[in-house]
Amino acid sequence: MMDAMVCEQYGPVKNLKHRQLTKPTPGPGEIRVRVSAVGVNFPDALLVQGLYQVKPELPFIPGIECAGTVDAVGERVSDFSPGDRVAAMSPRFGTYAAAVTVPASHAYPLPPTLEFAQAGALLCAHGTAYHALVQRGALQTGETLLVTGAAGGTGLAAVQIGHALGARVIAACSTQEKMDTARQHGADVAINTSEDDIREAVKSLTGGAGADVIFDPVGGTLAGSLSRSLGWNGRWLIIGFADGEIPQLPLNLPLVKGYSVVGVFWGSFCENEPAQAQANHQQLFNMAAVGTVQPRLHAVMPLTQAANALETIQQRLVQGKIVLEP
Ligand SMILES: NC(=O)c1ccc[n+]([C@@H]2O[C@H](COP(=O)([O-])OP(=O)(O)OC[C@H]3O[C@@H](n4cnc5c(N)ncnc54)[C@H](OP(=O)(O)O)[C@@H]3O)[C@@H](O)[C@H]2O)c1
Repeated sequence: MMDAMVCEQYGPVKNLKHRQLTKPTPGPGEIRVRVSAVGVNFPDALLVQGLYQVKPELPFIPGIECAGTVDAVGERVSDFSPGDRVAAMSPRFGTYAAAVTVPASHAYPLPPTLEFAQAGALLCAHGTAYHALVQRGALQTGETLLVTGAAGGTGLAAVQIGHALGARVIAACSTQEKMDTARQHGADVAINTSEDDIREAVKSLTGGAGADVIFDPVGGTLAGSLSRSLGWNGRWLIIGFADGEIPQLPLNLPLVKGYSVVGVFWGSFCENEPAQAQANHQQLFNMAAVGTVQPRLHAVMPLTQAANALETIQQRLVQGKIVLEP
């Protein structure tokens, strides 16, 4: 048997139930991971409320990423053996548990220097940011990258990766504390979205040219300013709508200003381009092994506190990531 947090009906995150369930058995091509750390993500909260793009059949265990130790392998698995330390993403959810089965192709051996807590929080946020900036945004050394929600999960990952790729990073956050966090993680400069006009701030920071790339996981009311903050050949990466509102864009703006609006969906990317996704994730683990990127752990909580973790995200309080430990 194993501990698991279970969504038995769609609704508020506090409805998640702690249950004892039978451990899953790995099928052909799968491994079972004894979970040591679970990365908590904003989409997990959408999923249990029934507000996500997909609605799993009830009951289900949420969670899309984890790190731990392989404790069983299915047929036709040759890359992993029991005892291996891995990080994994789970395309069918299920990581809010003491054990989960995942396709072996979705697991990555851990560098010895990387702890479970860090590794379990790396794949979703950093995977999204890396795919967004490298494949979708083609961010170049020396370009200016504007990141909204820059102290959040995906935002802080984009700050770290943008900095590592040699961009000049402008962080946009709602509090001084979050601005300080973004600067500590590689932002060159930070804007306070509660006080400053983003458009004016970006204009003045770029000598009137505008940003080359915007990484935007927030959407909502900021979008009006963002739509006027890009330079010629700019790329506006649409990551998510943490604000809750999906903004509308007058299409004359990308036309007149010569910028592109580029959608980013890490989950679909992993399904549609598995080889490229694996290469990205391997690169991220290489970067994490030498400290070039490192998830900031806002808190580490017991698995049974999953609802508290999700509420902290909903309350806009998280800087970096929360990790759950079964
Ligand atoms: N496209 C993809 O593949 C992909 C992958 C992962 C996540 N996402 C999406 O990206 C969005 C952000 O995810 P995340 O992991 O970065 O979340 P997060 O860690 O909670 O950060 C989101 C940030 O958005 C800002 N925000 C503004 N209004 C908010 C509100 N009402 N509630 C919460 N935050 C608010 C906050 O920054 P300030 O306080 O500084 O404004 C917060 O730090 C979500 O919509 C998520 O579903 C998309």
